[in-house]
Amino acid sequence: MESYKIQQHLYDVIVVGAGGSGLRATFGLAEKGLRAACISKVFPTRSHTVAAQGGISAALGNMHPDDWRFHFYDTVKGGDWLGDQDAIEYMCKDAPRAIYELEHQGLPFSRTEEGKIYQRPFGGMSTNYGKEQAQRTCAAADRTGHAMLHALYQQALAHGASIFVEYFVIDLIFDEAGVCQGVLALDMNEGTMHFFRGHAVILATGGYGRAYFSCTSAHTCTGDGGGMVLRAGLALQDMEFVQFHPTGIYGAGCLITEGVRGEGGFLTNSAGERFMERYAPHAKDLASRDVVSRAMTVEINEGRGVGEHKDHLLLNLMHLGPEVIHLRLPGIAESARIFAGVDVTKEPIPVLPTVHYVMGGIPTDIHGQVVQKRGDDVDARVPGLFAVGEAACVSVHGGNRLGSNSLLDLVVFGRAVAERCAELIKPDTPHRDVPATLLDKALARFDALRNANGGTPTAQLRVKMQRTMQKYAAVFRTGETLAEGKQKISEVFEQFKDIHVSDRSLIWNSDLIETLELANLLEQAVATMHSAEQRTETRGAHAREDFTERDDVNWLKHTLVWVDQEGKTRFDYRPVHLHTLTDEVEPVPLGKRVY
Ligand code: FUM
Repeated sequence: MESYKIQQHLYDVIVVGAGGSGLRATFGLAEKGLRAACISKVFPTRSHTVAAQGGISAALGNMHPDDWRFHFYDTVKGGDWLGDQDAIEYMCKDAPRAIYELEHQGLPFSRTEEGKIYQRPFGGMSTNYGKEQAQRTCAAADRTGHAMLHALYQQALAHGASIFVEYFVIDLIFDEAGVCQGVLALDMNEGTMHFFRGHAVILATGGYGRAYFSCTSAHTCTGDGGGMVLRAGLALQDMEFVQFHPTGIYGAGCLITEGVRGEGGFLTNSAGERFMERYAPHAKDLASRDVVSRAMTVEINEGRGVGEHKDHLLLNLMHLGPEVIHLRLPGIAESARIFAGVDVTKEPIPVLPTVHYVMGGIPTDIHGQVVQKRGDDVDARVPGLFAVGEAACVSVHGGNRLGSNSLLDLVVFGRAVAERCAELIKPDTPHRDVPATLLDKALARFDALRNANGGTPTAQLRVKMQRTMQKYAAVFRTGETLAEGKQKISEVFEQFKDIHVSDRSLIWNSDLIETLELANLLEQAVATMHSAEQRTETRGAHAREDFTERDDVNWLKHTLVWVDQEGKTRFDYRPVHLHTLTDEVEPVPLGKRVY
């Protein structure tokens, strides 16, 4: 093995990822006087938060009377009761504060006639516990994530945070006592290796949507944090729950915001029928995403799709008129023109359910601290390790996330984790000496991949993984398809041993970086396929055709999955928190989920 020269950096806290949650955590730490290093594989404003369109939820009550308890109820129900109700309370109650904070930080929200923050309808959001559709999603036209990410990046700069741009984090480094000591990273510009040490590491690395062939996620969404956690011998949680957004552009996968349906757009089939009226008579096109995606899949499977192959559906917004489209939905008008060749003022957009979000991830408590099950302790904390955002599973989204709860999750828990680190860590606490051998395992693995000289190109294996996930861990699943999917994904995992990296350079070696990313994706692809086979019920986004009902007797629990380096899985379970944090709100009792 080559002997790598390692540069060491000492910080109070290391944040991995510079999307919404990573940046919110970073400046929150700086605000508390902690020295934080934020490490990102892309320039911060290219992080995937930039692609969020429709908005961020909070019961501000700008469009009608509203209450965070209604938001809490909708989120519990939307997640099909798999969400932890104490965490959901924490998020929904904190939401208005988080929005005003963003407003004061310069997020240019759209406005009502009276100058208040504009809020639009989004799926699964109601007032009075499911009675009426709510307008709760605060929007900056249809570029809310873009506006938010820029506001947060400016805050990070204003607080003098240290941001390491275009560094790829390879692995977490733990000491002999199991305390996370930092991360090993490659500076992709200089080709140098770095050991970033901190008293805490916060993983804000986003989701692993790119495990699938068609997704709205950026190419960078390779779940690097989840991969590192699995390699550290820790479990991920609820990996069977993958969200398909109803309206990805057919063929391209790009997101067309739910805000289109919020503003009055609707879906039709080959007969021109507004078919959602049959599936969700009350909420119709604004039922929660899993419900709409399933309905669309049924329409296509039963021969009512459109186009030459009858394999997609149409999203109509022509009737909204050019003024509304220009004011509220300018971004998707542009996307539809570029990626579908459609003028949305005249024609519908061809759409298809497309992978959009992963509800599962690194299990944490409401302070972002990573938790594991150790013996009878179901909330055993992993010292020094935290996670936030899509990388984490708090779990506020349960089995299915409501649209616009994701941006909220980023800023609420990005702040919470910073607060907790500030409680635990005194600024400039000295770092204890650790032996250089702590890095050996991570370096050896890196070196082996860098020199991998098998017969399988990374790009070829990646596509094989993506097609396998798309086909077998789909909107609808059965025991049979999942068993076959497990077999196929194991073959892909095995074939990774034969990977070929064409270039040995450490500088801008995209083949090497994509191979490291593929390793992260593959581990989580295995976790998803295997977890989906285990869960013999239908809940949220996990729809089993052979077990069509929710089964609270046997499955009201979080799945924990470990994946070893041979691709073998092990399972355990944690209880769902059915209690709330305070007595300000009653837990939502288990109920039938109808829209
Ligand atoms: O449809 C959208 O604008 C996506 C929002 C979200 O996933 O929260």
